[in-house]
Amino acid sequence: MRLWERVKKPKFYLKGLATSLPDSLGKYLPQHQPQFRGAGIRKDENVREAAAGLYTSWMRTMIVLHQQGGVTYKNVAEIGPGDSLGVGLAALLSGANSFLALDAVPTAYNLNNEEIFEELVSLFKKRAPLLSQEQCPKQRPHLKSYNFPTDILTDEKLKVFLADDRLEKIRIAIRAKGGREKNNSGQISIDYSVPWDTDASLFEYRNSVDLIISSAALEHVDDVVRTYYAANELLRDGGVIASSIDFKCHDTAGLRNGHFAYSDLEWKVVRGRSVFFINRWPHEWHIKEMKKYFTILHDDVYHHPRQNLQLERKDLAPRFSGISDEELAIAEAFIIGKKHASSNTSP
Ligand SMILES: C[S@@+](CC[C@H](N)C(=O)[O-])C[C@H]1O[C@@H](n2cnc3c(N)ncnc32)[C@H](O)[C@@H]1O
Repeated sequence: MRLWERVKKPKFYLKGLATSLPDSLGKYLPQHQPQFRGAGIRKDENVREAAAGLYTSWMRTMIVLHQQGGVTYKNVAEIGPGDSLGVGLAALLSGANSFLALDAVPTAYNLNNEEIFEELVSLFKKRAPLLSQEQCPKQRPHLKSYNFPTDILTDEKLKVFLADDRLEKIRIAIRAKGGREKNNSGQISIDYSVPWDTDASLFEYRNSVDLIISSAALEHVDDVVRTYYAANELLRDGGVIASSIDFKCHDTAGLRNGHFAYSDLEWKVVRGRSVFFINRWPHEWHIKEMKKYFTILHDDVYHHPRQNLQLERKDLAPRFSGISDEELAIAEAFIIGKKHASSNTSP
C-alpha cells in the first residue's frame, strides 16, 4: 500500500468514531454513507428519476432471467429493497401476483410508493426504453439492448397486466403498507417483512417464493450464511435467486478494494455503531456459500479499473490472504442461482 493510503487510514477510523457521537459533534468528523445509519439511502430523490431507475433495475433482471429460459416469477421477493417498493411494483406490472419485501430496517416507504407506481405504469404503458448504461452506470447486469422487451412483455400480456382493475388492486396493496392488517385485493399482495430472516418470518413465508431478487444488498447483510439459508427456505423447489452484488469498499478505504486490508479489530473501529455495513465477503465466498443450496446458472463479473488496484498482496488482512488476484479485481457481480430440489435444511 502506498504511503499516502496509509496516511489516509485514520480518516476512516474517524468515520467509525463519528457513529458513536451525537450529531452535534459527529458532524465535525468525516461521515460514513448515510445508509449505514439505517435511515435510508436517497430520501430526497425526484420520484420520476427514481421510478426510471427502479424500472430499469427490474427490467435488466427480468431480461437476463428470460435469457436463462423457464424462470417463472408469479411470487417475487426482494432482499434489501431500500427506499421504495419500486422494483417489486415493476415486477407486479410484469405479471407477478405477489411481492414480498425483505429488509433489516423499515425504509421502503421513504419514497412515495403510490407516486412511483403511477410513474411506473406510465413507463410500461409507453413501452419506454430502459435507462442506458451511460444514464445508469452503477446498475448491473449490462444488456445488449436497452429497448423495451416487447418479445417478453408482448401487447397481449400487457393488456392483462395493465388492466385497470388489476392496477387498482396493486394500488390498494401499496396503501396497505404490507401491514399485518393485509390488503384484501384479490390475487395481488404486497408484504413487507422486517427483520425478515427470523425463524417466525421464515415459517410464515416458507416455500412460497418463485424468485428472489436483490440489488446492492447482499454485500450489506451481516450474516451471509444465514441469508442464503433464509433465501433457500423462502424459495419453492426450483426457485431462483438473482442478485447484483457490489464488492467495492463503499468509501470505507482509500482504494476500491482497500477494505480487505483492515484487520478484524480495525474493521470494528471503522464500522463503529453503523446499523448495517459491508460484510467484506468477496465474490468467491458468496459462490461457495450459494452452492450449498443453489446451482449457479449465471455468474457475470465486472472488474475494477486497473488504476484502482494498487492494493498489494502483502497488505491483505490475514483472513483475506487466500483470495486470488483475480478475485481481488472483481468489483461487482450479477449471479443467478437455482434452488436444488428439496434443499431446505438447517443452517
Ligand atoms: C445499498 S441499499 C440497496 C437498495 C436498493 N436495492 C438499491 O439497489 O438501490 C442496501 C439495502 O440492503 C438492506 N440491508 C442491510 N442489511 C440487510 C439484511 N440483513 N437483510 C436485508 N436487507 C438488508 C438495507 O436496509 C438497504 O435496503
